Amino acid sequence: MKFKTVFVCQKCGFEAAKWAGKCPDCGEWNSLVEEVKQQESKKAPTRTRSFTDFSSEIVKLSESKAVKEPRIETHIGEFDRLLGGGLVKGQLTLLAGAPGIGKSTLMLQVAAELSKNLKVLYISGEESIGQISGRAQRLGINGDNIFLHCETDIQKIVESVQNVSPDVLILDSIQTVYHPEFTSSAGTVAQVRECTSELVRLCKPKGIITFVLGHVTKDGELAGPKILEHMVDCVLYFDTEKDNVLRLLRPHKNRFGSTGEIGLFKMTGHGLESVENASEYFAQTSRQHALKGRAYSLALEGSRPILTEVQALVSPTRYPFPRRVATGVDLNRCLMLFAALEKHINLPLDNKDIFVSLAGGVKLKDPALDLAVCAAVISSCKEIALPHDSVFMAEVGILGQVAKVPLIERRLDEAQRLGFKKAYAAAVTKTEKQKLSKMTLLELADLNDLALKLC
Ligand code: TYD
Ligand code: MG
Repeated sequence: MKFKTVFVCQKCGFEAAKWAGKCPDCGEWNSLVEEVKQQESKKAPTRTRSFTDFSSEIVKLSESKAVKEPRIETHIGEFDRLLGGGLVKGQLTLLAGAPGIGKSTLMLQVAAELSKNLKVLYISGEESIGQISGRAQRLGINGDNIFLHCETDIQKIVESVQNVSPDVLILDSIQTVYHPEFTSSAGTVAQVRECTSELVRLCKPKGIITFVLGHVTKDGELAGPKILEHMVDCVLYFDTEKDNVLRLLRPHKNRFGSTGEIGLFKMTGHGLESVENASEYFAQTSRQHALKGRAYSLALEGSRPILTEVQALVSPTRYPFPRRVATGVDLNRCLMLFAALEKHINLPLDNKDIFVSLAGGVKLKDPALDLAVCAAVISSCKEIALPHDSVFMAEVGILGQVAKVPLIERRLDEAQRLGFKKAYAAAVTKTEKQKLSKMTLLELADLNDLALKLC
């Protein structure tokens, strides 16, 4: 028999007759892989199958009734919060992350909590039953209501779901399963797409809560076609800072909640633990004393304010080109702030190396950190210690002006709760100010104001 082969882009699923270095469709380099083209049967048009069994009458939106889906809680604080209060029946979630980040651990912990009331089927194509049960022992899970199955053939997986009829299905991982009707190897675009749509067809009508685990490529993107993200209800990315115990779970897409939230976890000897008090976790140095070059700020991650510690070191340089290093914050943003400080308050930075870093290994893009970066640099440069009970939160522009940042009320509230006594920010409205009972607000108009108040 003669096979027809095509070259399929592993990123976007584009099919080309010939190999090319660059995908003509999405522009990705080196992504075309040779795959055997499936002979489509003329009799059975398989493509017309829909993902779900939904079919309805045509009704007016005004006459349709909203269904309030009850939430199924996992009782893992951060996980529930991130999902928007819990899981919904029939929800299909894709959990993606680098190897070793803790996807299987998180899923086993979720399975343990859900199995208190629901029947869970955990299918693994990566580990043996012995390995999974070893992990369960480590996590202290007994799992009376958790069924394990090691399988990679999607048809056998479908059979076992039909036999066990679980309420929750976990598939670890989508890159290891294959569809026997497709000749390409597991993990390729065609396989990942077909296996996922098989799962959608199986689980949606039955209302099974499904978790599909997936790998990410070295660029941090989901390995497999983008179409996967359209097929599922929720896409979660599990991320970490290098050599850090902290794990961040970010929703990339969420049909039943917001994508602005993040979940914070800590990997411990007995599994992942929710980090609910993020503020106290990120600040590293003791908050008892004033320090040179340290400024606190409240940055937003999603809608949650997190206490962040900006550290700056300004020291005379020995090189013709002074060094500018930024960790956790955007370097270009910092360069702009340094230039503004030189220009508007005559801070002598031209012969100094400057290092700016966010404590705790986080990476943040919040403009509210601008003022804290400026304060920390002034403090280190002029050798003035910044008081331990002050926070700095405002955006600084190239003209040296200080501007208000979004959700300032929430940030001020959190600062007050954390025991700060002084907040440096742009002018706020009366109502925002009224709430401040235990804290003084120092309203700044520009960098000159900041320099005057600090020195
Ligand atoms: P794992 O869940 O296997 O990661 P993934 O499925 O994303 O590849 O967990 C990976 C790491 O977590 C592993 O290197 C060991 C560590 N770990 C702990 O530190 N504590 C624990 O309790 C467990 C179960 C794992
Ligand atoms: Mg795993």
